[in-house]
Amino acid sequence: MTDLDPGVEQKKKPFHLRGNYAPVTEEVTAFDLAVEGTLPPELSGRYLRNGANPKSGWSPHWFAGDGMIHGLELSGGEAKWYRNRWVQTRSLNEPDAVLIGPDGSVDRTIGVNNTHIVGHAGKILALVESSFPCELSPELETLGVYDFDGRLESAMTAHPKLCPVTGELHFFGYGFLEPFLVYNRVSASGELVQSEPITVSGSTMMHDFSITENYVIFMDLPVIFDFEMAMKGGMPYRWEDDYPARVGVMPRSTADRSYSSDDVQWFDVDPCYVFHPMNSFEADDGTLVMDTARYPELWRQDTKFENDAMLHRWSMDLQAGTVTELALDDRAIEFPRVRESLVGQPNRFGYAVASFQDRDSEVVKYDLGSGHSQAHNFGATQIPGEMVFVPRENGTAEDDGWLMGFVYDKPTDTSSFVVLDAADIAADPIGQVVLPQRVPFGFHGSWFPDA
Ligand SMILES: [Fe+2]
Repeated sequence: MTDLDPGVEQKKKPFHLRGNYAPVTEEVTAFDLAVEGTLPPELSGRYLRNGANPKSGWSPHWFAGDGMIHGLELSGGEAKWYRNRWVQTRSLNEPDAVLIGPDGSVDRTIGVNNTHIVGHAGKILALVESSFPCELSPELETLGVYDFDGRLESAMTAHPKLCPVTGELHFFGYGFLEPFLVYNRVSASGELVQSEPITVSGSTMMHDFSITENYVIFMDLPVIFDFEMAMKGGMPYRWEDDYPARVGVMPRSTADRSYSSDDVQWFDVDPCYVFHPMNSFEADDGTLVMDTARYPELWRQDTKFENDAMLHRWSMDLQAGTVTELALDDRAIEFPRVRESLVGQPNRFGYAVASFQDRDSEVVKYDLGSGHSQAHNFGATQIPGEMVFVPRENGTAEDDGWLMGFVYDKPTDTSSFVVLDAADIAADPIGQVVLPQRVPFGFHGSWFPDA
């Protein structure tokens, strides 16, 4: 091995262990980092982002590595600290712990918790869709598995939806055994108050979903569990032509009335897969609008990423029982986000990362009102990850705020935390912080304001 060119060794590895996908080996803490430009002084809180970082250096799939949080604390225009910490899961610390036992039993206290990090009712939760959450401290120490005081009986998606109107947290869990899908609702104060098994066609891989002010929306799509693939290790899901593609709309329960699987109205859609909706809302004409990063197909031959997702809109007419599908853009995008206070509400703007075969990655800002878009191009040597919108306090315009995230610089093999003006994203970054270590490409993050 030692007489090989290191570049040759690199090329033998799967993509998720090479380049800036490769895991880092150290947990680093650094204080009072140098700021280039200006960090908005009113930003007081922490940007935390989760991603896969296999401690052993190897994992069978990008989605299977141990969770690691990278975070910065900002205050008064300063970058107070940077930290990266593995989520101290049972998967990480107990080599013999397995999610799925030899008898087919499932232990949801075991997971890699590598996908997202969200806050609700004073708790910080690191999430992975196979398992229960892990609760973290504001300084990224793992406090333990969190199961909503023993009430959670399903897995928890990494993409719960916090309703900006009620403060409720809506989420689901899916699995390869029945019930294949369970919807859960958590009160604003953090109490799990509703769990409903939802009937779907089979063991679909449901990564994300949507809410609107009065509905929750499930995607029952044709990427399904495969037992033989599971026996071989790796990602046990594949495309299935015979599995119907459907979107299900269920009314949100209120104090007066509870809704269940029988109340779901299903809409047949063209075969596709969606990891991430951008947002959903109830339009003035009564239709339910759902914008997604839509793949025409996923994982037919293997679990590599060979198709691109593009922004599409489903418009569902609940009275007529019909759905129309519209392509909104032809760029390959992922990591769509909106202003969190508009989750489930009509949004004009949406943000995503676009990638191209023949040119640089860009951060795109969609103006869904006008149909126009703007982009921030970081140049040929820099690659952005997901960008999170953070509103300016007391700002009135929807895009009055900032986009923040990590950007990788290839020539220097370094990463920066970058802040863009969301109202003018094509402009140079307002501020950035070169980090004391590389941040591997990861998944999703959140802003945790001090208030
Ligand atoms: Fe995701």
